[in-house]
Amino acid sequence: MREVEIKEYCDRFRGATPQEVLEFFLSEFRGQIAFATSLGLEDQVLTHMITSISPDTKIFTLDTGRLFPETYDLIDKTNGRFKIKLDIYFPDTAHVEKMVKENGINLFYESVENRKLCCQIRKIEPLHRAMAGLEMWITGLRGEQSTTRQNNKLIEVDENNHGLLKLNPLINWTEKQIWDYLEEYNIPFNELHKAGYPSIGCQPCTRAVKPGEDLRAGRWWWELEGHKECGLHER
Ligand code: ADX
Ligand code: SF4
Repeated sequence: MREVEIKEYCDRFRGATPQEVLEFFLSEFRGQIAFATSLGLEDQVLTHMITSISPDTKIFTLDTGRLFPETYDLIDKTNGRFKIKLDIYFPDTAHVEKMVKENGINLFYESVENRKLCCQIRKIEPLHRAMAGLEMWITGLRGEQSTTRQNNKLIEVDENNHGLLKLNPLINWTEKQIWDYLEEYNIPFNELHKAGYPSIGCQPCTRAVKPGEDLRAGRWWWELEGHKECGLHER
């Protein structure tokens, strides 16, 4: 059933702009759709588009407790610029305390298993709370970001996340289109992007990349390429 629905949507929106796609889905799923922002470049574009089309849409971010200071500053700036209040979801205190006691504060460097445990507790569990009652979530995924994302589509069934529909309006946009849009509308973005960080997540798991390196080379850089998804977008 869902597959038919998805195919119909994909046919209908082939060649449509992200704004056209958003106009349709924000109205069609009103009250059951939300946008997850990590305050990344793509997310800032989407925050502008979504607040222009439907300002009361739920927009949320997952504060893992390990974000960069620059990201916290950007939360404030974004709220001010768009006259919104992002919903901020935090990890469960008892789960974090147990994990740290058993595995250490920087457990993620020890093994992929530890890293996934940390992502599960600090991101995935809060994500699932944020998704309660939703039919669809919106993300800033782009196909160009990595080999693991080349097969993502405009609309997908998100098997990892309660089978919700997942909408990726910028899936076909290039990095240049993102920067042009941010410049055209003078949209605030994370200062770290100008310091060699194309993709920004938690501070201990993100580093700057060298010119010519992959966009996500600075994320979980100590792990092999195929492992570099945290469960938010695992396939
Ligand atoms: S991640 O899985 O590696 O962390 P990435 O940073 O590329 O993902 O972001 C891709 C999309 O996932 C973002 O555009 C956003 O929709 C969602 N996302 C990632 N991290 C968060 C977060 N901390 N809070 C809310 N949404 C997030
Ligand atoms: Fe933990 Fe790193 Fe995952 Fe953040 S990205 S939740 S610090 S393992």
